[in-house]
Amino acid sequence: MKQQIRVSTSLPGPKSAKILDRLMKVNGAWSISYPFVHSESGEGNGCYFGDIDGNIFLDFGSQIASNPLGYNHPTLLRVSKEYLGRSPLKFAGQDFTIKEHLDLLEQLIRITPKHIDAGFLINSGAEAVENGIKIALRKRPGTKIGISFRGAFHGRTLGALSLTNSKTVHKKNYFTFPMQRLPFSEAAGEELQRIIEQDAPFENIGFVILEHVQGEGGYHVATPKMVNDVRTITKQYGIPLIADEVQSGMGRTGHWWAFEHFKISPDIITAGKALQVGAMLANKNQFPNESGAISSTWGGGHALDLANGIATIETIKKEKLLQKNTFHGSYLRKGLSDISKISNIAIQNIRGLGLMNACDLPTKKMRDDLVLQLLKQGVVVLGCGKSGIRLIPPYIVTKIEIDIFLENLESALRICSKKGPIHSGTICKYGMCAESHS
Ligand SMILES: Cc1ncc(COP(=O)(O)O)c(C=O)c1O
Repeated sequence: MKQQIRVSTSLPGPKSAKILDRLMKVNGAWSISYPFVHSESGEGNGCYFGDIDGNIFLDFGSQIASNPLGYNHPTLLRVSKEYLGRSPLKFAGQDFTIKEHLDLLEQLIRITPKHIDAGFLINSGAEAVENGIKIALRKRPGTKIGISFRGAFHGRTLGALSLTNSKTVHKKNYFTFPMQRLPFSEAAGEELQRIIEQDAPFENIGFVILEHVQGEGGYHVATPKMVNDVRTITKQYGIPLIADEVQSGMGRTGHWWAFEHFKISPDIITAGKALQVGAMLANKNQFPNESGAISSTWGGGHALDLANGIATIETIKKEKLLQKNTFHGSYLRKGLSDISKISNIAIQNIRGLGLMNACDLPTKKMRDDLVLQLLKQGVVVLGCGKSGIRLIPPYIVTKIEIDIFLENLESALRICSKKGPIHSGTICKYGMCAESHS
């Protein structure tokens, strides 16, 4: 069925508002969310989804990069049907094996560099990172510090959070590991060398962790010099390099993994989001060979999630989505650049690889206004960094949806360039949705 945007209520619509108001009272974690509740009948297809008030939205946020095949993809619907009527679907995955464990790990190993020949499946991106840290540290008894980058985001569990530096709100009052930071710039290599020479001998450094395209911190793309310097030094001193591919991996940038753009190969890879399960991948020798050193009850134990992960990899291959992501990413960036020449509000720093793109607005307020305005027009985008929006449609996006998005962006920018408050009423309660992501 061909879909198109339809927003016929104020946002949130009356049915959504009832649920969101009740949820606001009982959900401890909640301060912010998007002003709709997804349709119970799962209405939507392709890049479009419906809410319970009958509105249809165009999704350029892909459930925070975790919905690569969009809504109601026929392959994933087939998988869901296969699992219908089976119980349990959730197994204690590290101790009780289902065939899907093997199939997913083998699929993953086929799309990673040769020396990465083993993996560990887990629940979330943060846990993939935690376990990446653990296997790095287990082999390095002299560790005193770890190293991450300024602006990095690696998750919200306490270990992963120590490596995260994108916003203070994530970390206030929480204990952190001893860490040092590198600038996310071409000065990174020099600073790493300085740390080794002046602050911590290489055997005291447990790992360096890097997002080759920073996600939550602002969708900044590393430069080849930065990556090559860091990789050369980590290799020279035998410091494990962890590539955090939770957001950038699984094909979003047009390669399976963002580090491939730099022609380097890390020691450990972390994945999640688009894969539907968390995964930490490395050479088999990097893993501790003691039973129980890494494990979890539910980790990688949801049969449907595993099956969806397998089907996602197969579909990306079958539908040539890597190539399509490269093509559609260029098309989107060209469209953004055309708009930046005619818009009253300057959209700046258009950047990205494949379908992992962002641009900045002159101020945070303009960004927040723009996100709400796009929502009112039926288009979902996410914020990133201080004043950026990220543009991450599902991989099955076509030029048609990109054109619709660009038309909406242009008109939303026109509205947001007016003086005075742009929005009023209940939707303002959701203003923070512009920046609430990871
Ligand atoms: C690069 C990166 N690492 C780790 C995480 C944490 O993943 P999760 O939210 O699944 O725990 C995220 C989440 O956004 C991420 O972008």
